[in-house]
Amino acid sequence: MQYFSIVSLFPEFVETYKHMGVVGKAVGNHLIDIKTFNPRDFAENERRVDDAPYGGGPGMVMMIEPIVKSIRCAKESVAGSCCVINLTPQGVPFRQGLVEELLSFEHLVFVSGRYEGIDERVQHYVDREYSVGDFILTGGEIPAALMIDVIVRNIPHVLGDPRSLERESHTDGILDYPQYTRPSIFEGNEVPEVLLSGNHKDIEVWRQKERLRRTFLRRPELLENYNLTEDENKWFDQFCSENDEGMKD
Ligand SMILES: C[S@@+](CC[C@H](N)C(=O)[O-])C[C@H]1O[C@@H](n2cnc3c(N)ncnc32)[C@H](O)[C@@H]1O
Repeated sequence: MQYFSIVSLFPEFVETYKHMGVVGKAVGNHLIDIKTFNPRDFAENERRVDDAPYGGGPGMVMMIEPIVKSIRCAKESVAGSCCVINLTPQGVPFRQGLVEELLSFEHLVFVSGRYEGIDERVQHYVDREYSVGDFILTGGEIPAALMIDVIVRNIPHVLGDPRSLERESHTDGILDYPQYTRPSIFEGNEVPEVLLSGNHKDIEVWRQKERLRRTFLRRPELLENYNLTEDENKWFDQFCSENDEGMKD
């Protein structure tokens, strides 16, 4: 069992999320457990969890005490190894490559902020800080759900067919190949012929070439850390010359 806890002022968000789709099935099959810890339940003063910032300025700041009590309660709820993650736009960018290491912990506790964020002293009570992108959301619940979603797919037996994980975008550093299903022609747009050929070797080669082509066109920076095979090197040169031709037109 993999345990997730979310420190959040909106337990209803987590309750809805944890019953949906693949995550919901994983909960139902006892592969994962997701609990919420609401700082309001740990607040001393009329369930108050925020206050004005020292030094002035707009908005409210989440008070440290209810957050720390929530984190402690979450940690005590599971006996195994634990990693506490603060969600903040100022954190390390979260990416696929971090999932395996995070799964080495039995329990992940996500701390979701609201308002202008959490009192800075929260840093003394968390192990990591992650951002889900260079933009600002209104709260940390969506980032927590996003991270759990990414992590859960990688837990054995969660996905019906584990091959789904093997060659998805970002798993081995480049993007996935294009997917098609019936009908073979839609409003004049045809499925590539090779996919209808039944020739598995040709399909395999076409797919790998398309993975490389779309990475080259859409996310060329990913190729800086990807080791090209001999065939892939030739395709790469071909894409470069096609691109140069396109630029001249
Ligand atoms: C409005 S934001 C606070 C932003 C903060 N004042 C700043 O500029 O860094 C409120 C909460 O949303 C969450 N949040 C917003 N954007 C995020 C992002 N890109 N990644 C992770 N968490 C985010 C954090 O939990 C944060 O405490």
